[in-house]
Amino acid sequence: MHYRLFEAADFPDLYAIEEVCFQHPYRFTRRYMRQLVVASNSVTWIAEEKLKMTGFAIVEWAEQAAGVIAYIATIEVLPGFRKLGVGAELLRRLEGSANAEGAVAIWLHVDLENAAAIRLYERLGYANSGRAENFYARNRPAAIYVKHLV
Ligand SMILES: CC(C)(COP(=O)(O)OP(=O)(O)OC[C@H]1O[C@@H](n2cnc3c(N)ncnc32)[C@H](O)[C@@H]1OP(=O)(O)O)[C@@H](O)C(=O)NCCC(=O)NCCS
Repeated sequence: MHYRLFEAADFPDLYAIEEVCFQHPYRFTRRYMRQLVVASNSVTWIAEEKLKMTGFAIVEWAEQAAGVIAYIATIEVLPGFRKLGVGAELLRRLEGSANAEGAVAIWLHVDLENAAAIRLYERLGYANSGRAENFYARNRPAAIYVKHLV
């Protein structure tokens, strides 16, 4: 597996992965996804195998009173390429990018029923720090996970 940063021409392949991985109400719109990947305060990592995109992940950051705080917008791996460590490597790349921005912490929302994602985050040192009611839609709460960076 090869890992590299997003380029503008990657967008159709990236959004095709979003369409495979998420259904309404979890799916980002094309417009929102485009805003995310071109933002000056975000980095998108791509995983590819023999020039085929197999996954991607996006981290954003913002300056807050406590310092720079990073937020994982999404992490997605095509079904045929899961359980190979791609998600974990993308997550490590996001953390590296957040570290490079001087982030003191990194956090995310995850569907309470998304066991695969929760296991991945916990394995990499993320701790549950609460939940956001009605986050995805009415009565669809998200768990909040946080990791402090050094
Ligand atoms: C969550 C997601 C990104 C995980 O991606 P992944 O590439 O499968 O993650 P990893 O391979 O790093 O880890 C998953 C499992 O594979 C196992 N694994 C990792 N490398 C392995 C290897 N070489 N051989 C066998 N198993 C391996 C890990 O131990 C882990 O197992 P676990 O079930 O015991 O935790 C993926 O399931 C996905 O895209 N889901 C849909 C989108 C989504 O929900 N994203 C999260 C949004 S918050």
